[in-house]
Amino acid sequence: MHSEPPEVVSLHLENMSENPLPDAQILPATARDYKEVMSISKGIYCGADPLPSRYHEWLADPKREMFVAKSEGKVVGFMSFLLVDDGTTAVAEALRVAPWMRGRGIAGAIQQFSLDFLRSNYPGATRIRFSGTSETPPTIMSRCRKVHSKSLISVVIPYEQMEEKIKLLEGRLEGVGGRRLPVALSPSEVLRLFEDPCTTERLLPKGLLIQSWFPLSTHRSNLELLRQRGVVWLYSQPSASISEICTGTHDSPYTPQEPSAPIPLSLPISSSLPNPSIVSHTSCGFLSLGTPPFPVPLGDGMCRFDIDLFGTDPVSAQSHVLHQLIEMQRVLPAGGGAVCYLFAETSLFPELNQFCQGLEPFYKVIEQHVLEIEV
Ligand SMILES: CC(C)(COP(=O)(O)OP(=O)(O)OC[C@H]1O[C@@H](n2cnc3c(N)ncnc32)[C@H](O)[C@@H]1OP(=O)(O)O)[C@@H](O)C(=O)NCCC(=O)NCCS
Repeated sequence: MHSEPPEVVSLHLENMSENPLPDAQILPATARDYKEVMSISKGIYCGADPLPSRYHEWLADPKREMFVAKSEGKVVGFMSFLLVDDGTTAVAEALRVAPWMRGRGIAGAIQQFSLDFLRSNYPGATRIRFSGTSETPPTIMSRCRKVHSKSLISVVIPYEQMEEKIKLLEGRLEGVGGRRLPVALSPSEVLRLFEDPCTTERLLPKGLLIQSWFPLSTHRSNLELLRQRGVVWLYSQPSASISEICTGTHDSPYTPQEPSAPIPLSLPISSSLPNPSIVSHTSCGFLSLGTPPFPVPLGDGMCRFDIDLFGTDPVSAQSHVLHQLIEMQRVLPAGGGAVCYLFAETSLFPELNQFCQGLEPFYKVIEQHVLEIEV
């Protein structure tokens, strides 16, 4: 349930008075603000901003709050948070200020407003979690607890080159000897994975399941969220021989889904698996999450596709990247292309970077930090 709509708050921001700001207001974002929020967002994340695709879906989410800052009636700032981890954590995202209004205290004010709002309306929330990068200002880093860091590799693959680039990566994997084929996990297998202490302790450092820029704990309540997002879960055993048994003779580990479809209830490959479950209780294996491609403001049919890698085995990591790309290619609209973000443990960076040679780099940021502050 949504909490009571927040009161409109008027602010007089004059702390950075070189460029004093007229009175500003912070109020709940509405569907009518969409165009203006988009107009202050031009160029954010080099055009791979998820907000344009998510805005209306977010508005309909009862666990999410979205705020705009307005000056002289015009939108000049935006931020949002979503309650996760069974209501104990607010994940903050999509903070932005109109380029012509930066450096005048708007971001600070909208964040303070969100914090106050959280304290008053969500007493069960004890922390705010968010993702930062190497570009996050040191003042923010010093105020937060850094929970974990991952490496980020981003590449752009035009649609017409996808086949060729996938072949290139396939060739590289053959070169390192043996392909550890991942299998798609059904919802019940995902649940079992979550309940396995080996997974949560070793495969998911600090108990974090970071989906793209969105840091979640392994709390069971978060599974529904990931299901709604249509995330593709692939898993592989560390032993190649077990993987081969699991994958049988299928060319692909996964039946393609519509981009926004939930995780399928049963997957051909899973149902052909031997018992006991593919999710071993003696080994942690390797896990990846593929977020279905979604359009981004880059235009020309460009989509963003994120792959989150969990585990430290370099060959498994490469195999998962390849198979996530193969599955993504099946649902990627023709024309355009994909900006692919790969998030991996930092120890995997050199090998993954090498693996991706020949793909066009996209974004200069190569670090993701998960940050927390107490409420
Ligand atoms: C980052 C951004 C929102 C800062 O806006 P701003 O209005 O210039 O910021 P302010 O004038 O309020 O001053 C800085 C304050 O903003 C906040 N801030 C600045 N950069 C931030 C960042 N990357 N993440 C979180 N908060 C940030 C801090 O609260 C900071 O307070 P401090 O000076 O006490 O440390 C703005 O530059 C922007 O829209 N950038 C593009 C989008 C982006 O990078 N968003 C951040 C990550 S989602």
